[in-house]
Order: sequence, then structure tokens, then C-alpha cells
Amino acid sequence: MRLLILYATDHGSTTGIAERLAADRKRHGDEVTVARLRETSHLDDYDGVIVGSAIHNGQWLPEATHAVDRLSSQWGDKPLWAFSVGSIGATTSFFGEKRTKAVRSRMGEPKAVATLRHTGHVQDAHRFAGAIAPGDWPGAGRVMFRVMGGHYGDARDWDEVDAWAESIHA
Ligand SMILES: Cc1cc2nc3c(=O)[nH]c(=O)nc-3n(C[C@H](O)[C@H](O)[C@H](O)COP(=O)(O)O)c2cc1C
Repeated sequence: MRLLILYATDHGSTTGIAERLAADRKRHGDEVTVARLRETSHLDDYDGVIVGSAIHNGQWLPEATHAVDRLSSQWGDKPLWAFSVGSIGATTSFFGEKRTKAVRSRMGEPKAVATLRHTGHVQDAHRFAGAIAPGDWPGAGRVMFRVMGGHYGDARDWDEVDAWAESIHA
């Protein structure tokens, strides 16, 4: 499969996940291209597309949301996969177990993923935890993060990323 992996990032942890997915898929024999969503305008050369973004304020980054709208007429019949990178993923989180459980159960889907489902053939949508450093937050966000008991660092679960890439193969 000629696979295109498109992503949007603010601080780089989503880039790492996009690159890991690419390496996994290449190992399975796919021809893979990785590109920034904001720099992509043509999808003709690809059989399938993985689209992902960091989450800010519960939504994909504006550049990703705009790109999903801009590219909507080009998805056609291509299989699509979506991934979101935020504070709480399917297996890991910036927060303790209790808060993670409570928040995970009421997390809605970003609007851009709903748009993707509406305009294309989404096979699966997944949420990964990313990475966070104190300097990433504006002042109020830093205080809120501390109050909520957040932990700084890299919460990416590479086994989870590998397993998701494998599920795409299946
Ligand atoms: C300004 C800001 C807002 C954020 N808002 C959210 C949010 O609403 N929900 C969430 O799960 N994570 C949120 N995060 C955490 C990021 O999604 C997380 O750090 C992610 O790994 C960032 O990806 P990136 O390194 O590719 O930019 C926020 C981070 C920042 C800096």
C-alpha cells in the first residue's frame, strides 16, 4: 500500500508518533510518505491515509482542523485512520489513575475526527498520550495542570503505537 501519514504538532511529540507509525508500516512493506498536514494538498498518489494531530483545548490543532476541511473532497474511497495525541491516551496518561479513568470515560471525539468520519472512510480512530514540559503551557494552564496532579514528561507508549500500526495491517 502507498500510505500517506499526515500530522500536525505544536511541540513535536506527534511528529515522533507519526514517524514511528511510518517505520512500522515500512517494515510491513508499505511505501510510506510522512508530511505536515498544513503542507499537503494532493492525495492522488496514495492508497490510504493516516491523519493525526496534537490536541489543544479538546480539539485538533487549528491547522489540522482546517486541513481536514480543505482535503475533504479528496478522500474518495481511500481507507483513513485517525489518531489524536493529548494528555490521556488509551494506555497511558499525564495524570494519576483515578483522574485518568474519570476523564477518559467522558472524553468526546475532536470535531475534526467527526468531520473525517462524515467525509471519508475512517477505519479506526485512536488516542495516544503525548509528552509535556512545563514550558509548553501558558501560565494559567501550568497552574491548572499542577492542581490536577499532572506529571511532566513523555507518556508515549511505543508498544501501543506499534500495536496500532499492526492493526492497520490487519
Ligand atoms: C496549550 C496546550 C493545550 C492543551 N490542551 C489539551 C487538551 O485540551 N486535552 C488534552 O488531552 N491535552 C491537551 N494538551 C496536551 C497536549 O495535547 C500534549 O502535550 C501533546 O503531546 C502535544 O503534542 P505535540 O507535542 O505534538 O504538540 C495541551 C497542551 C498545551 C501546550
